[in-house]
Amino acid sequence: MSKTAILEIDGKKYEFPVIKGSENEEAININKLRDLTGAITIDPGFKNSGSCTSGITFLDGELGILRYRGYAIEDLADKASFLEVSYLLIFGELPTAAQLEQFETDIRKHTLVNEEMKGIIDGFPKTAHPMGVLAALTSALTAFNPKSVNVENEKELYQAVCKTMGKFLVIATWTYRKSMGYPLNYYDNTKGYVENFMRLMFELPTEPYKSSSVVIDALDKLFILHADHEQNCSTSTVRMVGSSHAGLFASISAGVSALWGPLHGGANQAVLEMLEEIHQNGGDTEKYLAKAKDKNDPFRLMGFGHRVYKNFDPRAKIIKKAANEVLGTLGVDDPILEIAKKLEAAALEDEYFKARNLYPNVDFYSGIIYRALGIPTDMFTVMFAIGRLPGWIAQWKEMRENKEPIGRPRQVYTGAPLREFKKPV
Ligand code: ACO
Repeated sequence: MSKTAILEIDGKKYEFPVIKGSENEEAININKLRDLTGAITIDPGFKNSGSCTSGITFLDGELGILRYRGYAIEDLADKASFLEVSYLLIFGELPTAAQLEQFETDIRKHTLVNEEMKGIIDGFPKTAHPMGVLAALTSALTAFNPKSVNVENEKELYQAVCKTMGKFLVIATWTYRKSMGYPLNYYDNTKGYVENFMRLMFELPTEPYKSSSVVIDALDKLFILHADHEQNCSTSTVRMVGSSHAGLFASISAGVSALWGPLHGGANQAVLEMLEEIHQNGGDTEKYLAKAKDKNDPFRLMGFGHRVYKNFDPRAKIIKKAANEVLGTLGVDDPILEIAKKLEAAALEDEYFKARNLYPNVDFYSGIIYRALGIPTDMFTVMFAIGRLPGWIAQWKEMRENKEPIGRPRQVYTGAPLREFKKPV
């Protein structure tokens, strides 16, 4: 028999169905609540509210489980490529070798960005943060691709996916080239997606760029680990904006803006800046731990804590191992890595962090790898955005295919009651 939940308001009882997910998660379906009772629920930060049902990503914060379309993140990080994982997230199944090759070929058809976009980049100051530029450029792509996608047309939708994957990578790297004053370059269709990322970033007209398989493999893995994370802040933003039937580029641009914040994707930049500060101040991790615990000090240990993971973040485990391997292979001896390890060890033993279930999250070690690969700190969140792109696309596509209604939460008004209008004297 299916479960129900009983709610009693003013002595009157109401019954609501309890729905079950494929991993036995339970949720009370309250979509008739207001009609039946006149009341709404309030849940700031949506800590207890599901905004949708989704078949893309499963995570269990208590057990530290993360799966894309049923595949364990550990397996995907170990055995698949970023484009394979992108295909899986967006289309639901792992691609065959032929489908994967076709996907890559089709993305390549869309890697040329309209030349007029260069004029838009020119308008930004060199000092602009790359995430701000990326959000603006992604939004600007709408102007060059004005036709809205007919989500019921499979071919059109597939083309929109390939277009977004192709052009976003190029404009993301252009935000860096702009900040460096480098000439804007083009995707090389003879090379792979992740290899192109490094080329697009660092190739100079004066000499050919030599790619390293260690670097490409590490980046591929990092992109996979960031590819989706169910209904986080930026993904919910993408779904919310898309729910008004705004286009894919406009929705992704909103996701980029949401990701930028230091409590979300911006944390990876904040982590490295924090580690550098600790290093410059003599490496006293205890002092920073005390600051993080002091309620009168706004300082938080960046890269620690997670809204959902209250045991450990499985991505952090994979990244920590990768950081050790990459730095070892590249022969990088980075004191920042030692400070990170010291800080992590101290926090894991500390009562404050233990009592609040605060563990390192995905961002705690990713910046150390990016730094070893020569990626500048203010590009870290852009790296996150490149990795998260297939997840945003998959979630946007699912939301439209499920014909979800426009996202429009309610509120409890706490402002002034009706007042007589009188001009202040
Ligand atoms: N350092 C010190 N204290 C912390 C930290 C931290 N990093 N994170 C949480 N706390 C404390 C809070 O002060 C609070 O303490 P209290 O109960 O005594 O008031 C308690 O732990 C619970 O914290 P909340 O902010 O309520 O937890 P929430 O789930 O809302 O926030 C968040 C999660 C935003 C990730 C938070 O842990 C944080 O700010 N972390 C640092 C920023 C960060 O690393 N963000 C990246 C998240 S992962 C991602 O987006 C990819």
